[in-house]
Amino acid sequence: MNKRVKRLLRPFVYGTLSPKTVQSLRFQWWYLTSYVPRMLSSGVRTPRVRYFGTTVVPSLNHLQSLNLLAPTKTCRVMTRFGSDKAWNGYTPVYSALFGDRCDQPLRILELGLGTNNEDVLSNMGVFGAPGASLRGWRQLFPQAHVYGADIDRGILFEEDRIKTFHCDQLDAASIRELWSRPELRDGADIIIEDGLHTLEANISFLEGSLGHLRPGGIYVTEDIGADCFDEWFDRLEKTYSKQYPKYEFAFVTLSERGYNNMLVVRRAAD
Ligand SMILES: C[S@@+](CC[C@H](N)C(=O)[O-])C[C@H]1O[C@@H](n2cnc3c(N)ncnc32)[C@H](O)[C@@H]1O
Repeated sequence: MNKRVKRLLRPFVYGTLSPKTVQSLRFQWWYLTSYVPRMLSSGVRTPRVRYFGTTVVPSLNHLQSLNLLAPTKTCRVMTRFGSDKAWNGYTPVYSALFGDRCDQPLRILELGLGTNNEDVLSNMGVFGAPGASLRGWRQLFPQAHVYGADIDRGILFEEDRIKTFHCDQLDAASIRELWSRPELRDGADIIIEDGLHTLEANISFLEGSLGHLRPGGIYVTEDIGADCFDEWFDRLEKTYSKQYPKYEFAFVTLSERGYNNMLVVRRAAD
């Protein structure tokens, strides 16, 4: 549905409800139609995972047997704050990746705050909740410091254990500036890229950030479209696995023809 049609239909769908009410209704709808049925059923669905690169002890092997239908705390927390990570099917993957590290004092960076400015590319719509996933990470990792970055300066904010910065992921100098901030100078343990979602933007942020991943850390690129699989597989096989011998790459396919696919990278612990 194009932008103008959405704008015209909005008053009929949501009336004069506030963004908070809309988020709460969305959460209840998701809980009843997706989370509860998954709790009650014993359905199993596993992702297709392709591995690249070698580390002495492969640590991402468990991803191929994880159950994408499992209802997790990460699903609940992210959806409650207004993030779309559970709707897109990523939260069981995050749960499998981070579950045993939740109590550690990690440094987490997510690119893409979730602007509600419809003039910015890759926005979350007018009822979006900027900073939703950052607040979700803060709750899931009670000892962590959570950092965020976005091209939209209008949604940057600072709260307890959360700080955000401007960054344009298409601009290498802007990415360097982000990593030169005192809070991020020593790198991050978890880096999540949920920004513009074009191949060029994914590559630009990955290449500018992989060197800042701390030993044992995890980097994730979200929302990779099926139309980019070949290009990614080629780069992972011929370039990145050779350029980064201490990194392990897992390409996780959740939708064979859609956009809900992710690249997971783990740097070996020193
Ligand atoms: C899908 S939203 C992120 C959603 C959020 N992470 C969540 O889970 O709630 C994508 C974000 O990427 C940002 N973005 C778009 N282009 C960008 C760019 N060139 N550099 C950095 N961020 C960009 C948008 O402003 C938007 O806030």
